[in-house]
Amino acid sequence: MGLLTGKTGLILNIANDRSIAWSIAKNCVAQGATCGFGYLPLEKMERRVRKSLDEMAEETGQAGLKDPWLQPCDVGSDASIEAFFAEAKKKFGKIDFLVHSLAFANKDYLAIGKFTSTPREVFSQACDISAYSLIALTRAALPLMPDGGSIIGMTYLGSEKVVPGYNVMGVAKAALESTARYLAFELGEKKVRVNTISAGPVRTLSAMAVGGIDDMFTHVEKKSPLRRNIDADEVGKTAVYLLSDLSSGVTGENVYVDSGFNTVGL
Ligand SMILES: NC(=O)c1ccc[n+]([C@@H]2O[C@H](COP(=O)([O-])OP(=O)(O)OC[C@H]3O[C@@H](n4cnc5c(N)ncnc54)[C@H](O)[C@@H]3O)[C@@H](O)[C@H]2O)c1
Repeated sequence: MGLLTGKTGLILNIANDRSIAWSIAKNCVAQGATCGFGYLPLEKMERRVRKSLDEMAEETGQAGLKDPWLQPCDVGSDASIEAFFAEAKKKFGKIDFLVHSLAFANKDYLAIGKFTSTPREVFSQACDISAYSLIALTRAALPLMPDGGSIIGMTYLGSEKVVPGYNVMGVAKAALESTARYLAFELGEKKVRVNTISAGPVRTLSAMAVGGIDDMFTHVEKKSPLRRNIDADEVGKTAVYLLSDLSSGVTGENVYVDSGFNTVGL
């Protein structure tokens, strides 16, 4: 028996095998969960995601992943979200968990010294795709969670402290964390829990778009209590805790998986 045996969840969005969503999915599947997956409908994306799920099937020995339930979802479009959940309802009926592991900001403004020049539309898009989407996905998932459930989102320390180069994404992550708390408060009565994981830097496609990312890795290695950077797999393991009944009394929280870096002042 795995920690998620008998549970079904939706994980959005995998881009490749380096995505944090991929490591979360791998750990969920290894713990017995049935998962459906989302991908951003861009050219070649579906093929790339299928390939990464093939690799996951090999690593976990879960043959079911060879023919995964995989649907497009662009969280900037209400119609796309609606279509994704309509298909999920047809396939799964009910779900127990939802993983929001996606974000976007124009990388031209994720550079040191560029925050003051952030245009209105860049700000709006970053907050829309990276934070509002948690409300939109949660609302769409609720009808599939009549018995309650667990929802998680991914965030980063740049929401609370200035991390040079993280810029507008830091503002969007502050909005995401606050959004998670308000959702947790409102949905507690429905037995739906909402939490965020604040991960230390991980070398993914999105992370590489952030100016100053190399300094983040160097700094964590030098200054964090564990004196090393984290592995995406460690985020996956914490996700299993938050998505499973092990965390049944935990909601509205932000859990750090960052080698303890957030606790250090100097
Ligand atoms: N990598 C890190 O260092 C780090 C640290 C802390 C938090 N995070 C967060 O983890 C989450 C996953 O990012 P990642 O680092 O795995 O990078 P990633 O590039 O692998 O994943 C980002 C995902 O967001 C998706 N996405 C972008 N725009 C979208 C849209 N309009 N609709 C739907 N999906 C969209 C991409 O397709 C991709 O699948 C993000 O929220 C990110 O901010 C990352």
